[in-house]
Amino acid sequence: MNIAVLGAQWGDEGKGKIVDLLTPSFEVVARYQGGHNAGHTVYVNGKKFVLHLIPSGILHPGVTCVIGNGVVVDPQALFKEVDTLKELGVEVGDRLVISNKAHLILPYHRELDVLSEARRGDRKIGTTSRGIGPAYEDKIGRRGVRVGDLAETSSETTLVDAIRANVEARNHLIKDSKMDWQKVLDDLREAWKRLKPWVKDVSLYLDQARRAGKSTMYEGAQGTLLDIDHGTYPYVTSSNATIGGVCTGLGVGAGAINGVLGVAKAYSTRVGEGPFPTELNDAIGQRLRDTGMEFGASTGRPRRCGWYDAVAVRYAVRVNGIDALALTKLDVLDGLEEIKICTSYSCNGASMQELPSDLGQLAACQPVYESIEGWTEPTKSVRRFADLPAGARRYIARLEEVTGVPAGIVSTGSDRDDTIVRDDSVVARWFARD
Ligand code: IMP
Repeated sequence: MNIAVLGAQWGDEGKGKIVDLLTPSFEVVARYQGGHNAGHTVYVNGKKFVLHLIPSGILHPGVTCVIGNGVVVDPQALFKEVDTLKELGVEVGDRLVISNKAHLILPYHRELDVLSEARRGDRKIGTTSRGIGPAYEDKIGRRGVRVGDLAETSSETTLVDAIRANVEARNHLIKDSKMDWQKVLDDLREAWKRLKPWVKDVSLYLDQARRAGKSTMYEGAQGTLLDIDHGTYPYVTSSNATIGGVCTGLGVGAGAINGVLGVAKAYSTRVGEGPFPTELNDAIGQRLRDTGMEFGASTGRPRRCGWYDAVAVRYAVRVNGIDALALTKLDVLDGLEEIKICTSYSCNGASMQELPSDLGQLAACQPVYESIEGWTEPTKSVRRFADLPAGARRYIARLEEVTGVPAGIVSTGSDRDDTIVRDDSVVARWFARD
């Protein structure tokens, strides 16, 4: 079984925890897009791990983690993460495989990211300032530098020329910039010494793993509504967080994906700018933020919070072919008298069941809510579905109806064990757990 686990909302759905929980059923965990803009927080035995670039599967000994060609890699950010994991007692060693075709994030990408945001003024995207967008721009503009280029196997001076041309072009573009291309080159040559043992042909590696009977989990970063093609463009990240990214970002065929698990919070959050129909700028929004500790794992920014948007999740189910959902952070809703679900939008007097692609139209959409009675008993740390309060079970059942897929997993707390995998679901069949 090879399963994709991806975000069904605007990112931060709790994918890290779900990937970590399911990893014992897999030998390989592979990231297919994004970069160190992602922040996957995982708690194991009360210890907090925040992963940005390395798949959350790394916390399990014996599991190999793959960074695909669809990912953009900042070598210094990667080394920092490897070192932090070591300090926390997790040895990466030879359990990491990095695609030779992955593009590099270079120092000028970070500068360009910040500059581009400043230029947009009020229309800024609210990026993570990690250089993600500019690195993907260079990739698509066919002037990017790939991890494999650092091997300098070509007899030509490919790497030297590429670095010099790119740095000089950026110096020209950025006022008063005097970045030294030779230093950038020297740093990369130094970085290569450490990177080299991890660098491989990822497509071939995954194919061989599959033929050897090993299972792979494909780990998405960000979420469907942040996808460059299917998200709320231009308020998106610069890669394909949706299912197609698995094939292009790892070099695997569609037949290598046997199931798709979407991860969605029991409410909604968004970081950065852009439309967010169910946003709550009131005391309930603040309560969700405080109780759910909704602050960015990468940037520390407070997340915007709102009710569950079934229009958005239904859209994610369609775009990704999601078979089942992992519903996270249910416990954050404990104690609320009333909970709302957005089931459709009202846009200039018209009822809309589907997410509009036009940003202006989406911004003008008002959520149409259905109200559900809350529950007073805690769901926190409940580990059997039958033990959930009746109100919580009713809420989940209604979410399943309005999104059209079952909630195979329900997460009731931040710890690995605060999770319900429902026996009767497709998920239980995928991940036959001990
Ligand atoms: P970028 O990916 O840094 O270019 O940022 C583009 C948009 O994606 C911004 O709105 C970010 O806040 C958002 N974003 C990027 N990574 C994440 C993530 O891991 N979780 C949630 N939002 C993210």
